[in-house]
Amino acid sequence: MTKHELNEEPQPSANPSVVGRFLDMPNDSIFKTFAVAILLCLICSFFVSMSATVLKPLQIANKELDKRKNILAVAGIPFTNETINQAFDQIDSRVVDLETGEYTEVVNAETFDQLSASKDPEYSVDVASEIDIATIGSRSRYAVVYQINDANGDLEKLVLPVRGYGLWGTLYGFIALHADMQTAAGLKFYEHKETPGLGAKVDNLDWQAQWDGKKAIDSNGLVTVSLIKGLVAPGDPDAAKKIDGLSGATLTSNGVNNLVHYWLGDHAFGPFLNKLRNSRG
Ligand SMILES: Cc1cc2nc3c(=O)[nH]c(=O)nc-3n(C[C@H](O)[C@H](O)[C@H](O)COP(=O)(O)O)c2cc1C
Repeated sequence: MTKHELNEEPQPSANPSVVGRFLDMPNDSIFKTFAVAILLCLICSFFVSMSATVLKPLQIANKELDKRKNILAVAGIPFTNETINQAFDQIDSRVVDLETGEYTEVVNAETFDQLSASKDPEYSVDVASEIDIATIGSRSRYAVVYQINDANGDLEKLVLPVRGYGLWGTLYGFIALHADMQTAAGLKFYEHKETPGLGAKVDNLDWQAQWDGKKAIDSNGLVTVSLIKGLVAPGDPDAAKKIDGLSGATLTSNGVNNLVHYWLGDHAFGPFLNKLRNSRG
């Protein structure tokens, strides 16, 4: 045994640097334990923030693609994952001033974020509680709408963004109207918090398919379509204005009914839809 091995006292570091002295510390020292834990946290948070930053553009692109998919689907335009952008080229995105019901160019339809705008005092209006049947609190003064034109350039369908509270949170989606601006063509939600098997039946394709052809608005601009409790009876003379309620999910059904009535009504898209209808004669 050498003289060095016999010596039980810790040896002074051969490396006098800070790192050397740190490495020479006993592993069970409180300072070393905390220092290693903090270092590990810093390294991990660096990688988490770096991946969040690097993936952000991809997330934005995917969100836009998903929005496009939903607009195409509610408008009944066929597409595959490879042809989403190509199919979307036939859609004309335009901005509407909801107060005047006129098209406007004060904001850019491609970049305007209506949901962010609804929280921005410069771009939003508070929705008074007595008219806030969709429970949204405030809404953007401008809305991006999506026009689908036929081969002659005439308006064939119109897709409008809608949102409103269900049972567990806000449902976000699109409603499509046929060219008469009275008949519904579809309703589809791209985000909600409703319970699978209950409120989430709003995603059921058979339930969604009922919307096409329903009389959503009458010639005076009154919203006529409603979700009922239970199923629409085949012989019901008002079947054209009724949609099956979601069984076991009356609260979600009420939420969907309310948001459709709010957005198609006088305090949202109503003035715009009336003008479009009148301009068609
Ligand atoms: C765990 C749980 C989740 C529920 N999720 C929903 C829902 O997503 N939407 C809804 O309307 N009701 C939901 N309900 C049921 C409601 O509490 C309520 O009973 C229901 O809306 C009544 O609908 P009905 O009259 O069609 O039975 C849920 C209930 C429970 C216990």
